Amino acid sequence: MKQKEQRNWWKEGVVYQVYPRSFKDSNGDGIGDLQGIIAGLDYIKSLGVDIIWLNPIYASPNADNGYDISNYREIMKEFGTLEDFDRLLQEVHARGLKLVLDLVVNHTSDEHPWFIEARKSRNNPYYAYYHWWPVEKESPPFRPGYFEPSAWSYNRTTRSWYLHYFSRKQPDLNWENPEVREEIYNLMGFWFEKGIDGFRMDSITLISKDTTFPPIDRKKHPDIFSYYAHGPHLHDYLHEMNRRVVSRYEVMTVGEGSALDDKDVAAFVDPDREELNMLYGFGPSDVRMYTRPDTPNSGIGYSLIALKKMFGRWDKAVGKGWPAVYLGNHDQPRMLSRFGNDAPEFRQYAAKMLATLLLTLRGTPYWFAGDEIGMKNADFNRIEDYRDIATWNQYREIERKGEDVKAFLEIQRHTSRDNARTPFQWNSTFQAGFTIGNPWIRVNTDYSEINVACQERDPWSVLNYFRRLVAFRKAHPEMVYGSYTVLDIENPQVYSYLRESPGHRFLVVLNFSPKPAAAWLDIDLSGAEIKFSNYESAGGKERIKSLRPFEALLITCS
Ligand code: GLC
Ligand code: CA
Repeated sequence: MKQKEQRNWWKEGVVYQVYPRSFKDSNGDGIGDLQGIIAGLDYIKSLGVDIIWLNPIYASPNADNGYDISNYREIMKEFGTLEDFDRLLQEVHARGLKLVLDLVVNHTSDEHPWFIEARKSRNNPYYAYYHWWPVEKESPPFRPGYFEPSAWSYNRTTRSWYLHYFSRKQPDLNWENPEVREEIYNLMGFWFEKGIDGFRMDSITLISKDTTFPPIDRKKHPDIFSYYAHGPHLHDYLHEMNRRVVSRYEVMTVGEGSALDDKDVAAFVDPDREELNMLYGFGPSDVRMYTRPDTPNSGIGYSLIALKKMFGRWDKAVGKGWPAVYLGNHDQPRMLSRFGNDAPEFRQYAAKMLATLLLTLRGTPYWFAGDEIGMKNADFNRIEDYRDIATWNQYREIERKGEDVKAFLEIQRHTSRDNARTPFQWNSTFQAGFTIGNPWIRVNTDYSEINVACQERDPWSVLNYFRRLVAFRKAHPEMVYGSYTVLDIENPQVYSYLRESPGHRFLVVLNFSPKPAAAWLDIDLSGAEIKFSNYESAGGKERIKSLRPFEALLITCS
């Protein structure tokens, strides 16, 4: 047994991620807003979750839905005002919940006053807030972008290229400049002083750059983005940020761990290093997609064995730190469609089974709003349905090169970020109760069957199962803190693991397939007792060794 884990609210809490644009529209303009979130707080509270993470709510021209900020101290006009925000924070705290905001400081919007100034002239004091490559040095060294083929765009007035790892509307800030860091620590202080409970830090691994921009060593970094995540002063900056601002408040931090290897992770979350509390990696999206033998027609799938290995590696990789676990967010397709099965006969079992996984792994679960009712992928077939800059830019590029746009759209159906961004499904009225206007993105066609209102009435709904499971987790801190040991790594259909701490032993058995399956358990089950099952009739202990499709069992062992 490992040394006793230090208890913290952010380890025991469940994070509930709200995509503000799609949660609830209060004024009929088709865009979710802060008043809408306030209206949804009683619902969120009723789930039993503890921490709300909001995607960016700051002033933004919305090239990338708020991940392009034009003013860090104002609210996006579509979302409301600072007064609305203060009210929201007050209402969140009044319910005993915590509020975590998104911190997007690898880049700003090109419409941020800093960049508007910077691009005017090389002598402008704000020029040094960004990264530039002057024409005198000929064309800039190759740097690919996440959203565009090149991460450099030319700015005529300054006769130089500026760097943008994302779109050209998102120029990267120059963290090497101490004034920039000062500005960032100040704006963080502005929100902490208001009383927020933490930050989720966007693209945080990318902030430090070797400003000589040398050719990238492809042997060391076969995937170029991993080069981006290994900037020379990254850890110095995170430590400085922690000492200068974060550590002065009772708050949590979680970094988005783009392009990292397992071996890098501990350095961010080891408490002795005073950087971040948690980091989440891209494990779930890296679990290779392939056609699963049991779903030959889906054209998409993944290996359960790879998923287990990923969670196992991550559990170890954090070292003395604490894991963050998730299966989906606003950048991934819906977890039900990706890792479960959204066919009508299986969906509710699969959604509950995945909930069982996330709420019983070691680590803080990051739950994406809508997964608790089993929302599925958007099923868009036409480019016009999409809103995401990533999808649109790739589409235009493929069209420009004369490549197969149909094949591209078919892949997007499974992988696009918009799959997770459709409006939250409140009820079966017009537009799922999200808006009385025209939603900014199409509502899922299944909303009349899949929505909160009808699941409230059904004690066996995914929603009510989720609530019971959250309550169980809360009542059992030993399950939060216990060690994690996988039992059946090579079983391609079933995922079983133990969560152990002195005097407690939980066994979780999950059938990931639409077929009955046998668990491979080489442990003594004589004192076992089924505490949770996602089937109405749990059955006796014999169930443990022959599971129904997508069956999930949570068992206590003596
Ligand atoms: C992160 C965000 C994503 C955004 C990108 C650029 O990956 O989660 O939504 O597009 O950073 O800020
Ligand atoms: Ca609105």
